[in-house]
Amino acid sequence: MKRKLIAGNWKMNGGLVQNQALVQAVREGLPAQSCGVAMCVPAPYLAQLAELVRASGIDLGSQDVSAHEQGAYTGEVSAGMLRDFGVRYAIVGHSERRQYHGESDATVALKAQRALAVGIAPIVCVGETLAQREAGQTEEVVKRQLAAVIHQNGHCISEIAIAYEPVWAIGTGKTASPEQAQAVHALLRTQLRAATPHPERVHILYGGSMNAANAAALLAMPDIDGGLIGGAALKAADFLFIIQAGSVPA
Ligand code: PGA
Repeated sequence: MKRKLIAGNWKMNGGLVQNQALVQAVREGLPAQSCGVAMCVPAPYLAQLAELVRASGIDLGSQDVSAHEQGAYTGEVSAGMLRDFGVRYAIVGHSERRQYHGESDATVALKAQRALAVGIAPIVCVGETLAQREAGQTEEVVKRQLAAVIHQNGHCISEIAIAYEPVWAIGTGKTASPEQAQAVHALLRTQLRAATPHPERVHILYGGSMNAANAAALLAMPDIDGGLIGGAALKAADFLFIIQAGSVPA
């Protein structure tokens, strides 16, 4: 049985002083037999976080990675640079990147490839909007988003993680029910089965208003292997509560 993974997505939040307090509180509260824990932080704080999480069992993550290897791409951060700071996970294709930065499925697939090439596990985000769910398009949308990544990275697909994040649940306080989430996770697992002999090894995380109150029920579902946590990852007590829920032996 693989350990669950609880990854915090800080988004564009933090500061040198707050980061120190937050990481210290999480370190101190980690359960002895913890699930996997990662913090995906803004790029300028990677050096600080690398120090703060040293020997804690907390892994470092980024929130994006460039689709290019190096060169004249002002403002971009390459996979190799992230590797230099000990980054283990890189979120790719978050819905906020797709929406505000026009990232296509093809771009997201390339970003996943750049991460994999340097040994960073991409956390590939997929998810439907409310309009798409209401139009009955959830399955089609998430399958298309994952298919692009499988197409580009088929040979190492078991190295990725996936985050199912229904766009209507992100930052809204509306969570998918455990059954709604499980149904999509099961679909994604089936899709992986055609691409890898070991689909069970891939962490499929749920994200979208996961919090201390709903985490245990979501994490109890058979295909929910962890969480990608936004708002609740900024409060040590809430994040620890979710980690605790993920650390319960199945
Ligand atoms: P939320 O964000 O937990 O604040 O809804 C999750 C995410 O966007 O990754």
